[in-house]
Amino acid sequence: MLYVTRREVFSASHRLDNKSLSEEENKAIYDKCYNRYGHGHNYTLEVVVAGDIDPRTGYVIDLKELKKIIHENIISKVDHHHFNYDVDFMQGIIPTTENIAVAVWHQLVDKITTGKLYSVKIFETENNYIEYKGE
Ligand code: NI
Repeated sequence: MLYVTRREVFSASHRLDNKSLSEEENKAIYDKCYNRYGHGHNYTLEVVVAGDIDPRTGYVIDLKELKKIIHENIISKVDHHHFNYDVDFMQGIIPTTENIAVAVWHQLVDKITTGKLYSVKIFETENNYIEYKGE
């Protein structure tokens, strides 16, 4: 089994606001990410596909194809957008990096038909990232 990774970067805004909590509780939990109008992050997304080498091509998955799948389903929807307002697959979900990773997984899992989606990693900063493997 081999693991192929495609990395993409995007910029997006979010506001972390749990409507079932008080303003004080939201501030205490989310701090700057509770900023009234939201704020931005430069995210890095890593998508890992696992599979065997296709003897015809020598590839696990054609990286051009993987790039196209990620762009059509994720980057075009999130880059320079606001997760809370105009990202269709995040409506009604608090846009923590955890929730974004799970949502991105669900967007991609059926689209990757060469090999298998193995993991989705999202870096919200250089030092913090979340990885989701579908379970
Ligand atoms: Ni934030």
